[in-house]
Amino acid sequence: MSMIQLENISKIYGKNSFSTIALQDVTLNIEKGEYVAIMGPSGSGKSTLLNIIGCMDTQTAGKYKLNDKDVSLLNNKELSLVRNTTISFIFQHFALMKDYSIYDNVELPLSFKKISKKNKKAIVMNCLKSLNIEDQANKKPGQLSGGQQQRAAIARALSTESHIILADEPTGSLDQKTGKDIMDILTSLNRGGKTIIIITHDPQIAAYCKRIITINDGTIVKDELNT
Ligand SMILES: Nc1ncnc2c1ncn2[C@@H]1O[C@H](COP(=O)(O)OP(=O)(O)O)[C@@H](O)[C@H]1O
Ligand SMILES: [Mg+2]
Repeated sequence: MSMIQLENISKIYGKNSFSTIALQDVTLNIEKGEYVAIMGPSGSGKSTLLNIIGCMDTQTAGKYKLNDKDVSLLNNKELSLVRNTTISFIFQHFALMKDYSIYDNVELPLSFKKISKKNKKAIVMNCLKSLNIEDQANKKPGQLSGGQQQRAAIARALSTESHIILADEPTGSLDQKTGKDIMDILTSLNRGGKTIIIITHDPQIAAYCKRIITINDGTIVKDELNT
């Protein structure tokens, strides 16, 4: 059984003549521990696919099973549990809370868990340390460089120990060198066992991944191992 199973998934936004087919009949399995790049032109359905995998959006047709559970059958409580414990997102523009300190940003996903304040502190500081930004803990995101902000977003993704990391163009607003640093971090997290799925336009970024899926007009047109 694959951890992520998409079966004939379609997604249509809007209605009638205003509708857009974002995904069409996508069937895809992703195993625990995989390191996957999703490539394709702008508007091809990459973000829609990632959002469905991340339980942030629902398909119009088809079936999505995560850990052998049909996601459409989960109630709201079960869904938020999945979002808070199983899956973490990283975005192009980091999506940090700008009025919160870096420390508070990383602690935020833990507010859903029953953990003592002291243990939370240990977890947050560990995550910040593992990304070499522990000295930035008390700053606001706006006081950090882009690369540091993305590190903070990764630290936030690690704080809940969720085993799937979904990244939508995580290097898209970073310079090349910083983008590579971020990819080195994601690569080492994958070596440590995390399942990582990254959307990118950039073949050099996709080259870090072990499997490259290409989508065009909402359909998978290529799915190959990167050897
Ligand atoms: N919330 C939405 N409402 C209407 N159309 C949308 C919405 N989100 C995406 N789309 C459309 O669906 C298609 C796929 O979008 P998206 O998944 O964002 O593509 P990508 O991430 O590959 O650029 C595009 O035509 C886009 O305009
Ligand atoms: Mg997108």
